[in-house]
Amino acid sequence: LVIVLDFGGQYNQLIARRVRECHVYCEVHPYHLSLDKIKEMNPKGIIFTGGPNSVYGEDSPLCDPGIFKLGIPILGICYGAQMMMHQLGGKVTQAPVREYGKMEVNVDNSSKLFGNVLTNSVCWMSHTDYIEKPADGFRICAVTESCPVAAVENVAERLYAVQFHPEVVHTQEGMKMLANFLFEVCGCAGDWKMDSFVETTIRGLREKVGNGKVLLALSGGVDSSVAAVLLSKAVGKQLTCVFVDHGLLRKDEGDEVEEVFGPNGPYDLNFIRVNAQQRFYVKLAGVAEPERKRKIIGEEFIRVFEEEAKKIGAVDFLVQGTIYPDVIESGLGDSAVIKSHHNVGGLPDYVDFKEIIEPLRDLFKDEVRKAGLELGIPEKLVFRQPFPGPGLAIRIIGDVSEEKIQILQEADGIFREEMANAGLDKTVGQYFAALTNMRSVGVMGDERTYDYAIALRAVNTTDFMTADAAELPWDVIGKVSSRIVNEVMHVNRVLYDCTGKPPATIEFE
Ligand code: XMP
Repeated sequence: LVIVLDFGGQYNQLIARRVRECHVYCEVHPYHLSLDKIKEMNPKGIIFTGGPNSVYGEDSPLCDPGIFKLGIPILGICYGAQMMMHQLGGKVTQAPVREYGKMEVNVDNSSKLFGNVLTNSVCWMSHTDYIEKPADGFRICAVTESCPVAAVENVAERLYAVQFHPEVVHTQEGMKMLANFLFEVCGCAGDWKMDSFVETTIRGLREKVGNGKVLLALSGGVDSSVAAVLLSKAVGKQLTCVFVDHGLLRKDEGDEVEEVFGPNGPYDLNFIRVNAQQRFYVKLAGVAEPERKRKIIGEEFIRVFEEEAKKIGAVDFLVQGTIYPDVIESGLGDSAVIKSHHNVGGLPDYVDFKEIIEPLRDLFKDEVRKAGLELGIPEKLVFRQPFPGPGLAIRIIGDVSEEKIQILQEADGIFREEMANAGLDKTVGQYFAALTNMRSVGVMGDERTYDYAIALRAVNTTDFMTADAAELPWDVIGKVSSRIVNEVMHVNRVLYDCTGKPPATIEFE
């Protein structure tokens, strides 16, 4: 185990992620974690993160100085490095030049931290203060042009500090440096894998929940599915999953969720499927304005869930499938911030529970997927594309009707099938069909038609904040288009959306 002590920096979770990439188990804890607790956890190493403060500020977070006497190797990064120097008698001041961005760093290869690392490489700097003078017993082992103390070490005490950020990809040799700290300094074995996360988490959940009752809103997406399986393995039937089918899911999706989580599936849990389709259709009838549609669906969802929760009665825990990127959105460095699930905004107010459990809050999306595979969840679910809470309602431009939903489900089903046949389903970021509110003239046989146009959308994106239209092979688009107009009633035209985001959004509404 390696402990990352969080001083509020931007990249804290990234450090943990990098450590885990080296197959070393790692946990992030607030900087004020007590010495007793640290001793009890018996870590092989400790990493101090960066942070927005200045070490000589009045309210700046400082660690218990006793930590340096525990004999545990420590690596301080950025603020963590400055704080280590400050606490041990070095001098930290405002740097004459603020360094931000890529800098060339020159390292001393005789340091264990920099063994096998290029002597000159690019590192990522982001600091206003700098270490003017290292503490006694420390030796400078890296410099940049404007930073005379880019890294220091005290070999005897096994204390290391770097001003730059080895955890970000811009630091070319960063992974090697972290690996050197973990293996050469801390002596970690590097045998941790996702199965250990799964095991540890299940054990932790079992302990936490005890005999309590647990409630989870299951959407069928990868996050809530993985959370459900973790809880099911931990406490079995003490878990109730409520799956609200709002009738706006993709073709066969409701049944697929039921197959996996329902009574005939492999998991031990209480599964409640609420077939609320008609309630949503009635509320949505005749409503064309996108924001009103979203609001109606959100509110109705809460109402349905609330009714189910009332039937179940008071529960001890409510599970949320929050993952680390959601935590970032809610404000970094403050572990108390709790974000209600995207799709069920405001939910906690409506349900009688004591505590929220978020078993995935330390994981990135790809790590959640790895955990899902580890847990034996079908690939189809694990690699499911992002799907918006309001579902197909925001992929039907204008008012929603059952007929339109069916048209879209069929067309979208064909698109997804052909993408899978072409092997594009795992490489393209997100793709789906939308039903435009445009009708146009066509000809079928000798008959004139006046029918809907389906729009195909496929995008590549890393963060979903920006996206490029994917350049799908023409034969795939052609096949999809011909199948849709032939197989789906009331569609006589297929369009391909080649707009990026911005200016378009990924969804149509
Ligand atoms: P936009 O349309 O904003 O979509 O470019 C960006 C990403 O967010 C997804 N999305 C949603 N996800 N609830 C969700 O959980 C929503 O209301 C919602 N709206 C959009 C969208 O599918 C894309 O991946």
